[in-house]
Amino acid sequence: MTHDPLVERAREAALRAYAPYSKFSVGAAVESVDGEVVLGANMENACYRLGICAEISALTAARQAFGLDKVKRIAVAGGHIGPDGTLAGAAPVTPCGGCRQAIYEAADLSGLDIEVISSNGDGSETMVSTILELLPHGFGPASLADAGK
Ligand code: THU
Repeated sequence: MTHDPLVERAREAALRAYAPYSKFSVGAAVESVDGEVVLGANMENACYRLGICAEISALTAARQAFGLDKVKRIAVAGGHIGPDGTLAGAAPVTPCGGCRQAIYEAADLSGLDIEVISSNGDGSETMVSTILELLPHGFGPASLADAGK
């Protein structure tokens, strides 16, 4: 079990994922610079390609609660829901490429290199990175500086 409460919030959020197709439940918890925490989870759809990831779900909630420019840390946890109703699984879940891009957008707005904590299902294994490590040389709002006026 991890001692980072943000990971525990992500694991809790994963229990409310809607993932009947992949049966892979992911939760994300976003913490603001002021310590506020919002949650999200993946939400799949019968039209498979319309599913959304946990990180995007949580960042949408963060936008409503405190703004993308205040995002400081994001924890992600995923796996399957075991027979005892808890999140289980061996491998830490790192954000997919699209979610890295969305986290990068928030980092560009705040100027903070957002910390990303990836956890496995049971919280026994975590990996800490920053968004600039996960997405080096990314394309973000600042990359549009040379657009026409
Ligand atoms: N998933 C996430 O929610 N976040 C990620 O970063 C990786 C993948 C979800 C999408 C889909 O519902 C399920 O995990 C299996 O890919």
